[in-house]
Order: sequence, then C-alpha cells, then structure tokens
Amino acid sequence: AFPIRNICCIGAGYVGGPTMAVIADRCPQIQVNVVDLNEARIAAWNDLDLSKLPVYEPGLDAVVDRARGRNLTFSTQVDAAIAAADMVFISVNTPTKTKGLGAGQASDLRWVEACARQVAQSAQGHTIVVEKSTLPVRTAEVVRSILEAAQRQAVDGELPISFSVLSNPEFLAEGTAIRDLESPDRVLIGGENPVAIQSLAEIYGHWVPVEKILLTNLWSSELSKLTANAFLAQRISSINSVAALCEHTGADVREVARAIGSDSRIGSKFLEAGPGFGGSCFQKDILNLVYLCRHFGLPDVADYWENVVALNTWQQHRISRLVVQKLFGTVTGKRLALLGFAFKADTNDTREAPAIRIAHDLLEEGAQLAIYDPKVDPQQIAFDLQLAASSPPDVQAGPTRAALSGEGTWWSGTSVADTVAGADAALILTEWHEFRQLDWVALAPLMRQPAWVFDARAVVDPEAVKSSGLMLWRVGDGAV
Ligand code: NAD
Ligand code: UDX
Repeated sequence: AFPIRNICCIGAGYVGGPTMAVIADRCPQIQVNVVDLNEARIAAWNDLDLSKLPVYEPGLDAVVDRARGRNLTFSTQVDAAIAAADMVFISVNTPTKTKGLGAGQASDLRWVEACARQVAQSAQGHTIVVEKSTLPVRTAEVVRSILEAAQRQAVDGELPISFSVLSNPEFLAEGTAIRDLESPDRVLIGGENPVAIQSLAEIYGHWVPVEKILLTNLWSSELSKLTANAFLAQRISSINSVAALCEHTGADVREVARAIGSDSRIGSKFLEAGPGFGGSCFQKDILNLVYLCRHFGLPDVADYWENVVALNTWQQHRISRLVVQKLFGTVTGKRLALLGFAFKADTNDTREAPAIRIAHDLLEEGAQLAIYDPKVDPQQIAFDLQLAASSPPDVQAGPTRAALSGEGTWWSGTSVADTVAGADAALILTEWHEFRQLDWVALAPLMRQPAWVFDARAVVDPEAVKSSGLMLWRVGDGAV
C-alpha cells in the first residue's frame, strides 16, 4: 500500500471532526489536519475548554483531548494542509439544493466541487482523495475529471502530480458517533485503484476487524450510503404509520413493534414510533435518491421513496393537529411547553428536527411556546424558528398567570419546571434521559388545569402522569 503519513480533512463538521479525532487517536503515527473555512468553528475545535467544542457528542471531548496538539490539528490553512497530505478526505456539507435545476431534491454539490478544485490546485505528489460526504451516485466521476485535469508528469525537478479517488461514506449516527466510529458495523470503501484502497483499509485496520471492512466498486459504495439511509428512514415511516393506526384501534405500537421485531428477518432495532425522523441526513438523502431515480427514468421507484418523506411530514403535522384538537380546538394565546428541540437525544444538532415543524404549526395557531432543551443554544432555536425569543413571563405567577397576550411567541425555558409553569400542555419532542425521570406529581400543580402531557417519544411512565391528575397522549398508544 501507499504509505499514509499525513491526512487532511476538509470540513470540520459533525462528521469531519469526530471521524478525524478517532483516526488520530487510533493512529498516533499519522498526522491528521482538519481544515475548514469557518473560523469560528475552528476556534471552537481549538478551545481549551472542551465543553466548547462545536459538536456535542458523548465521549468526543476525551478523544480530542488525547490527540489534539499531538497528531491532530484544526485550522483554516486549507491549501497548506492539502499540500502536506498523502490522503485528503472531503467531508463538507451536501445539503438539498434550494434553487435551480433539481431544487428541493438534488444535492448541492458546490462545496464538493470547490474542494476538488482546491485539491487539484494545491496537492503535491500522489494524493488519494476520499469522498467522505454523502454524495449522489457517480459524483466520483466529477471529482475525478477535475483532478485529472491537474495531473502532470515530473517537470523541472518538481514531483509528478497524480490522484486516486475513493468513496468511503460515513455511517455514524449523531449522539453515538464515537461508539459508531470506534466499533462500526462496517467500513465501506469503494474504488478502482487497489493500492489506494489498501492504503485506506490499513488506516481503519488499526482498530476495525478486517472482516468488517467491505470493498466495492465506486458506484456501489456511493449508492449504498443513500440506500442505507433510505431503508432506515423507511422503517421509521412504517412504524409511525402503524402508530397512527394503533391510536385508533386500542393497540399499542410498542407491543406491535416487539411482536414484529422478534422475527429475525425484521429485527428489533429502529422501530420506535415518534414525532417523525429529523437530522441532516434522512430527508436530504432520500430526496436525492428520488431525484436520481427520476433522472434515470424510474418515476415509479422515485414515487415509492418519496412517500417515505411524505409520511414523515404528515406525522409531524398530525401531532400538532392533535394537540390543538385536544386543547378544545384552539391554542391561541395558550402556553405550551416544548420539552426537547434537538432532532434526537445526546446531540445539540437541530437540523430538520421534528420540533421545528411542530413549533411552527403551533405558533401559526397563535400559541405561546416555552421551549427547553438541555443542549440546544436558544439562539439556534431562534434561527430555526426565524423568530427572536420573547422575554419569559413571570414564572412565579404560575397557573394563575395574568390574562393572555402575545400570540405566536416563544421564550427559552431554563429548566423543565420553569418551562411547564403556567402551561396547558407539555409536549415531549426529544427523548432526553432527564425527561424519562420527571416528577409529574410535583410538576402538575405548576400547570393550568386541565393540563395535558403529549409524549411524542413515549418516554414517560403513563401511571406516574395519570396519578398526577394530568391527561396523557402517548404516540402509538391506543390504550391510554
Ligand atoms: P457540517 O455542515 O456539520 O460540516 C461541513 C463543514 O464543511 C462546515 O463546517 C463547512 O464550513 C465546511 N466547508 C464547506 N465547504 C468547504 C470548503 N470548500 N473548504 C473548507 N471547508 C468547507 O456537515 P456534516 O454533518 O459534517 O456532514 C458532512 C457530510 O457528511 C454531508 O455530506 C453529510 O450528508 C454526510 N454525513 C453526515 C452525517 C451526520 O450525522 N451529520 C452522517 C453521515 C454522513
Ligand atoms: C442517520 C443514520 O442512522 C446514520 O447511519 C447516517 O450516517 C446519518 O443519518 P442520525 O440522523 O444521526 O443518523 O440519527 P438516527 O439515529 O438515525 O436518527 C434519525 C432520526 O430518526 C432521529 O430524529 C430519531 O429520533 C429518529 N428515529 C430513529 C425514530 O424516530 N425512531 C427510531 O426507531 C430510530
């Protein structure tokens, strides 16, 4: 294999940061330089206070602490890091296009192309370029054409310039990124050049058993990432569709999930009904798949996958609608407590969080929202809702608070107790551990009666809620 002594990763985000930290931790002999255009993000990665890292992931601080300053650096010196590298990972964002051809579905590849051009311009000697970002199938062709235009034979004593392109999609899930990186179900490497493939496989081989390193051609690798996410998201839409049916029929989706998941052909994971999937990947990647299917003349296949997203959107609106219905058909001027804003527990990420769509619906109905999340910055919530926070009302007033005012406003709660104070309902939208252990008997008197708990994550103990006198809706539970 081609010896790798120096790695550059372009993109210090949720994937680039944790992935490179683990590579640096497991391969102390390799220098790993993570670069990004975003100066604030790089400064946060370099912060001596490890609680200020830009990505919150359990265990990430310890990994960064071991490797940073030894063989792991974070900087904005993109060209210098490329020039020094034997291997460059492209780990930049690939969001859905918002305008132009394919708007709303196709991936916006401008940052990937910019990286390929920058690598073409700054690389020295032989460089292996690894697609780490999730990309439409056949993107490696684009990357390769840009790089090939920069290849050259040795001239005037300078080294020849050449490239190999590999696809190495990332399967980590947020909240468990370090565990997923340290013991992955599999590592996927797609490529054509066996020497380049072997070089990358050897890096992972420092801690991943060889049988878990899967080698494929470039296109299978690119397509596997999109379809893995589509399959996972499809399970969530499937179970959420069953949840709705359970609520009408007296069945309980958790019992149904256990019964169907015990079939080893189906498996028990990823069958938790909830407020619909969020996160930066599922919707974006399925829409990208839908776009590709239409592009390749497969409209029925496109429609099939598009419905996974449609069901997800429906589930989110369904929850807002049922909150309004149960609160006597109106939430105008009523206070509602939103517990959890992140798209899942153990992350500060809010991209495509179900809480955003549900909060929007309720604000549209004129509700006053108190929003509490243990890890999400209130400024991020304001950005996501496109609405500045109002100042919190006098919590001392509690359930006897003054007349209603300020329709369609929100403020940031600092604890569960001050968030639910004076509220007509508490909606649990993220499965944070602390929400599983709430003392509803103590919280209920703070709320205006009759009050509801809407548990979209099925984390509360139904008996504890009922004995506090609160009314309960639990996703997928037709028996409450
Ligand atoms: P992110 O937005 O958190 O990070 C991307 C970073 O790239 C940003 O900090 C941005 O400033 C930087 N960047 C963009 N263009 C650049 C350039 N030309 N030069 C230098 N820096 C540049 O994104 P992410 O969540 O880390 O996702 C990255 C890729 O990985 C995406 O394709 C995504 O689909 C994929 N992915 C994400 C996850 C996840 O859980 N977030 C999991 C698997 C795969
Ligand atoms: C996902 C994929 O799991 C990961 O392999 C890929 O690399 C990136 O996309 P992520 O979005 O970080 O990871 O988290 P994931 O655990 O998959 O959850 C996605 C969404 O689905 C969350 O909103 C989560 O709450 C929801 N979910 C998940 C459910 O509603 N029910 C489930 O059973 C599982």
